[in-house]
Amino acid sequence: NKTDIGLIGLAVMGENLALNMESKGWHVSVYNRTVPGVEEGVVERFINGRAKGKNIEGFTDIKAFVESIALPRKIMMMVRAGKPVDELMEQLFPLLSPGDILIDGGNSNYEDTNRRVKLAESKGFLFVGSGVSGGEEGALNGASIMPGGSEKAWQEVKPILQSIAAKALDGSPCCEWVGPAGSGHFVKMIHNGIEYGDMQLIAEAYWVMKNLLDLNNEEMADVFEYWNEGKLRSYLIEITSNILRHKDKAGGYLIDKILDTAGQKGTGKWSVINAMELGMPLGLIATAVFERSLSAQKDLRHLASKQFPHSHIMPVYNKVEFVKEIFSALYASKLVSYAQGFAVLQRASDTFDWQLNLASIARMWRGGCIIRSIFLNDIAAAFEAANKPEHLLLAPYFQQEIKTLIPGWKNLVAEAMKEELPVPAFSSALNYFYSLTSADLPANLVQAQRDYFGAHTFERKDELRGQFFHENWTGHGGDTKSGTYNV
Ligand code: 6PG
Repeated sequence: NKTDIGLIGLAVMGENLALNMESKGWHVSVYNRTVPGVEEGVVERFINGRAKGKNIEGFTDIKAFVESIALPRKIMMMVRAGKPVDELMEQLFPLLSPGDILIDGGNSNYEDTNRRVKLAESKGFLFVGSGVSGGEEGALNGASIMPGGSEKAWQEVKPILQSIAAKALDGSPCCEWVGPAGSGHFVKMIHNGIEYGDMQLIAEAYWVMKNLLDLNNEEMADVFEYWNEGKLRSYLIEITSNILRHKDKAGGYLIDKILDTAGQKGTGKWSVINAMELGMPLGLIATAVFERSLSAQKDLRHLASKQFPHSHIMPVYNKVEFVKEIFSALYASKLVSYAQGFAVLQRASDTFDWQLNLASIARMWRGGCIIRSIFLNDIAAAFEAANKPEHLLLAPYFQQEIKTLIPGWKNLVAEAMKEELPVPAFSSALNYFYSLTSADLPANLVQAQRDYFGAHTFERKDELRGQFFHENWTGHGGDTKSGTYNV
């Protein structure tokens, strides 16, 4: 009587995924390593606690665990990304049978997953690198799951993964095959980057309401609640409203007591690094990552704030109108952020020949994950249209949306700048939008400078594209061109 799937790693995500699987009728084996003094009794606690009376078998011996699972084995690893995954794979390989499937559900770097797929396949096994989003709650009640890697594994793991995935409003599971190699983890990485962007944008909206409109926590919570009824309806807007209303045991608003230094585990940073590697602009997410870094320099900010106190003119705003402008800035910037993120996915797909289906990815993110929102329906629709847009902002629906948002968006950014209030993501998005919609940019001067000091060459407007010229700018520079490569 073998089990349907094995799960390794009983931290909160692993426990919840195991319970989720069991609740969908799967018979589950679980294993956690035992490290004296560090991790002890983890399996016993789970089996005698939350898993009591459930169709879950606990193992402290990895060989017995592997042997308990039906062939071809499906083993999901929920351990810390990085070396622990490699170490675990090395332990598992000698115990597996040909055709067995390893699934890595952690936030692994997609390049590690590229490598692991090859390694596992070279030994006759299959490997699936799967993003899993939705935190503890999603793991237990329905996550957004983004599997990629050995495609042969998909038919085997599909029933289990789709059964534990969240369902979108139209009933479809938020889990589809993403593509080969590390594409599932790449997509999860961009999901997390977008998550960073959304969080920063919401934080800026909060900051403007608090500092320029002097709204209190309840009033701001009301605004977010109202927005959650409209086009911004999303999990992050919903929890923001709950957070603003939350009081701690002493009776005060907890939000006002939380230190303003943000942490990060790395997926936002990876998104930006990989966008740079692919030569793609991902400015909004970069801004969000850098703002977390700057927030962490609390002492320096404190010192600098004494030297450069901000001056606020604080005109009397029409609050209702101003809140509409904040909405415009938030919604338009969010559009920019998703447009940038999906453009990186498209570039990665082209570069690595992954054949990503952007509409399917947007649909997978509609439920279960941290960035779930109704807005992803519109994105999926845009990518599904007969004439696929060159860029998300050029899809007819989004063109219309942006046009109505621009006046409020630019007023809000201008007003915040005059009031010396930072809105780096709103303004990064606006600058990107203005650059994107400029047929001409001053890069002619950059090219001239590169050629002047380093003979890096340039193309000419009055010649065919693809021909590179070098000018002897000073009369003594000579005609030798430097080698050229473009990122
Ligand atoms: C998710 C989240 C999750 C992520 C946390 C923390 O999709 O469920 O993206 O995977 O680990 O949000 O990320 P940071 O610590 O980097 O903010």
